[in-house]
Amino acid sequence: MQLKGLITGRHRGRARTVLRLAHNDAVNDFSALLSPAGQALLDVLRDHDPAQELALATRLRREHPAELVSAALAQARLRQRAVAKFGPEDASRMYFTAHGVEQATRTSVAVHRAESFEALGVRSVADLCCGIGGDAIALARAGISVLAVDRDPATCAVARANAEALGLAGLIDVREADVTEVDTSGYDAVFVDPARRSDKRGRIFDPEAYSPPLSWAVSAALRAPRAALKIAPGIPHEAIPEQADAEWISDSGDVKEAVLWFGTQPGTRRATLLPGARTLAGRGLPDPEVRPVGRYVYEPDGAVIRAHLVAEVAEEVGGGLIDETIAYVTGDELHATAYAAAYEITDQLPFNVKKLKALLREREVGVLTVKKRGSAVEPEELRRKAMPKPFGKRAVTVFLTRVAGAPTMLLGQAVR
Ligand SMILES: C[S@@+](CC[C@H](N)C(=O)[O-])C[C@H]1O[C@@H](n2cnc3c(N)ncnc32)[C@H](O)[C@@H]1O
Repeated sequence: MQLKGLITGRHRGRARTVLRLAHNDAVNDFSALLSPAGQALLDVLRDHDPAQELALATRLRREHPAELVSAALAQARLRQRAVAKFGPEDASRMYFTAHGVEQATRTSVAVHRAESFEALGVRSVADLCCGIGGDAIALARAGISVLAVDRDPATCAVARANAEALGLAGLIDVREADVTEVDTSGYDAVFVDPARRSDKRGRIFDPEAYSPPLSWAVSAALRAPRAALKIAPGIPHEAIPEQADAEWISDSGDVKEAVLWFGTQPGTRRATLLPGARTLAGRGLPDPEVRPVGRYVYEPDGAVIRAHLVAEVAEEVGGGLIDETIAYVTGDELHATAYAAAYEITDQLPFNVKKLKALLREREVGVLTVKKRGSAVEPEELRRKAMPKPFGKRAVTVFLTRVAGAPTMLLGQAVR
């Protein structure tokens, strides 16, 4: 037993050494990119055409060390990937790791959060699990001073370089540490964005398997004057601590994340739609009545649905639900709302692919959008079967859903 323990311990020690060396390599590779030679290569690779990459790499390897060219090429590719989150201007000046770009908060969401902190009067934030600095940058740009903590050495090096590259080094202090060992007293607020992916297990759904676990993040939040914890939007409402105010955020219709706020208004549920930051706050309304499908169907934004605020939208448009289990709202009048997309319904019929095909042909439809809620049908398959080729030029949306429990198709057009 003792011998076994000894061997395991020795193996563990060796594994730790190997990991430390790998970390050192990653930091060294990255530091080389910050040298004049690395910067010159990154300049050459700015806006390079990926189709010409092979020829370009071959030429560069004749003139520069191969490892430096590989590191610069990898960084240039990461910058291209980062454009979707950070926009072309910042992405072309910032630095990334593969995990960092994947896990970073996109600028639109980070700016909204930073503005929320600012509106709460927060002037300093301990950003626990800062990654490459997606949130720290937005906080600093809002004039908030940030202690940015991450335990990964290469990630810290990148976060530091980003603060420098964006002229924010005076406001962002990057510290390499385990967040569970950092003293956050003295900060107006803490922000925790735990790692929700692991190399071995991929995406992590259990909040207690986040790094650090959600229960640790909640206890850190409760110790601070104010706090925000970023979590997956699918969190069950029962798992939300009673002290928290929960916000679901979507950007251009895609739900991005949920945030638990502490030190604000406990028990509140809200949905924020970006761009433009329109926020719908819950009023604790009961479930809307079910009613027959009317002239309009409203499809609430995903953040509204996740925040359980469909009743608030139904009230806003004077509508009811098409089915007690389905989050489509229906009404006879058109009411403008920022929180749902409106469709004018032309047909309601039982689910039947042949009938749908006949209708699409008769109406000379050429663009078919398939939406579904409460249906197991694959939209792509339905599109292939119901409209194997364009029948004309009209655009139609078909909702595959349930009405009073029955599989139903609703045809309509988006109201602009
Ligand atoms: C989701 S990312 C943060 C992304 C960041 N908010 C951004 O926008 O760039 C999570 C980070 O937490 C770090 N991390 C995980 N557990 C940690 C711990 N116990 N202490 C410090 N950092 C940790 C990981 O290294 C990773 O960089």
